[in-house]
Amino acid sequence: MNARNIIFYKLINLKNWMKKEIQIKKEFKKKQFQLVRGMKDILPEEQKYWLHIEDLVRRLADKYSFQRIGMPIVENTELFKRSVGTATDIVEKEMYSFFDKGNENISLRPEFTAGIARAYIEHGMLNLPQPVKLYALGPCFRYDKPQAGRYRQFNQINFEIIGEADAICDAQVILVAYQLYQQINLQVVIQINSIGCPDCRPEYENVLKDYLKKYRSKLSEVSGKRLSKNPLRILDSKEKDDQEIVKDAPQQVDYLCEGCREHFIQVLEYLDELEIPYALNSKVVRGLDYYTRTTFEIWPVEGEDGRMVELGGGGRYDGLAELIGGRPTPAVGFASGVERLVSLIKERKAPVKEPESLDIFLAQLGIEARKRAITLFEELYEADIKVTEGLARRGLKAQLELANKLGVKYTLILGQKELIDGTIMIRDMEGGIQEVVDAKKVILEVKKRLEKARVNVNELNKVSAIGPT
Ligand code: HAM
Repeated sequence: MNARNIIFYKLINLKNWMKKEIQIKKEFKKKQFQLVRGMKDILPEEQKYWLHIEDLVRRLADKYSFQRIGMPIVENTELFKRSVGTATDIVEKEMYSFFDKGNENISLRPEFTAGIARAYIEHGMLNLPQPVKLYALGPCFRYDKPQAGRYRQFNQINFEIIGEADAICDAQVILVAYQLYQQINLQVVIQINSIGCPDCRPEYENVLKDYLKKYRSKLSEVSGKRLSKNPLRILDSKEKDDQEIVKDAPQQVDYLCEGCREHFIQVLEYLDELEIPYALNSKVVRGLDYYTRTTFEIWPVEGEDGRMVELGGGGRYDGLAELIGGRPTPAVGFASGVERLVSLIKERKAPVKEPESLDIFLAQLGIEARKRAITLFEELYEADIKVTEGLARRGLKAQLELANKLGVKYTLILGQKELIDGTIMIRDMEGGIQEVVDAKKVILEVKKRLEKARVNVNELNKVSAIGPT
C-alpha cells in the first residue's frame, strides 16, 4: 500500500470514529435517566399517607414524652460493625460503605439505633433524668435484593427508651408501636420472644446447636454456615426446609436465667393489662446482634393474600452502649418501616387524613390584572382563606378548568375591565352564577359566601343524619 492509500484509509477511519463519537454524544443527550434500582420516588399524590403517618408519630411521641432527635445519615462504619454485628446480613452484605475524601470509612445508616446510642453517650445524656426517651424519622439504606416491601432506601420510624431496665419500658415501647398501627386502622399482633442475656444464652445456643447438628445435611447452605457462628438466626430462616427443622427445636424461653424469666413474665403481664394482642413466638430472634431479653415483631393480621411481612420490630439492647464505648446502659426500642405501612394502608383502604380542601381559585386576565392578583393572593391568604391561583396560566378557560379540577367553591376573576371599574367577579363553581362585587370588599364577600356554604352543608348533614321521615 502506498503512502497515498495509507493516508486515505486513515482518513476514512478517522471519519468513522468521529461519526461514532457524535452518535454516542447524541444518544447520551437523549438518555432518559431512571430511578436507581431499589429506590422509590414518593410522588405528591402519595404524600397524604406520609403526612398522616408523620402526624400520628408526632402525636404519639408527645403523648408518651419522647423527644425528637435528628441523626446524621452517615456514621463511622465501625459503629455498625460493633453494634449490629459483623456476622449479620446487614453488615456482611447490605451496607453502603465507602471511604470519604479524608480516607475515613463511613456508611450510610442501615438503621437508627446504633447512631442514637452513640449520640446518647457522646452528648452525656446519662446525666439527664433517666430514662431518656427519643424518637427519630428518616431514611435508612440497605443494599438488599429489591422486592415488594423491600427497598435499598427506605424510611424508618424509631422509638427508643434508654437508661432503664424495667419491663415497663418494654411494654411502653410495644404500646406505642401498637397504638401507631391501631390509629391507622391496621390490626396487628405482636410476635414476642425473649432471647435471654449473655449469662443464659450460651447454654441455649449449645442446646440448639446440638439439635441442629442432627439435621446438618438438610439445612440450607446459609443456615449450614450459621450453625457455628450464629445458630439463633437459623430459627428465623425463610427457607422451607429450615423451617421444617426448627419447628421442633428447643426454645430459648425454657433456658432463661431467673432474671430474664422474671423480666419476660413482667413484660407479658403488662401487655395483658394493656390488652395488647400478642403471640409467643420462639422464632423471633431478629437480624441484629445487639438484642438481649425481649425481642418482638409487629405482624399484620393476615391479609387476604396470606402475606406475612413484618411491619416493624424491636427489642431490648442492654449491652449496646458498652459495646460502643459507653457505660452499661439498658435500653429498649422499636422501628417500623414507613413504606410497608403506606402500602398496607392503601391495600386495606384504611382512612387517612385528606389534605385540606381549597375554597377559592384566583383567576386573572392580562398583565395588569396579574400584577394586582399577585398581591390580592397574599391578602386572601393572610385573611385565612384557602386560596390557590392560576397566575402562570393565560386564558380564562384553562384557569376555570383547573379551578373545576381542584374542586374549589368559588373563582375570583380579575380582568382588565374589573381593574378599571375597581370590581372583581365571583363565580359560584357549582351553579356557574357570576356576581360583580366591589374589589375593596372582596375578602368580606368571599367570607360571607363561604360561611353560608358551610351552614348549608351542616344543615344538609343534619337532615341526612335524621334520615327520611
Ligand atoms: P429492623 O427489623 O432491621 O430493625 O427494621 C425495622 C423495620 O424497618 C422493619 O420491620 C421494616 O418495616 C423496615 N425495613 C427494614 N429493612 C427494610 C427494607 N429493605 N425496605 C423497607 N423496609 C425495611 C431495626 O432496624 C432496629 N434498629 C429496630 C430497633 C429499634 N430495635 C431497637 N430499637
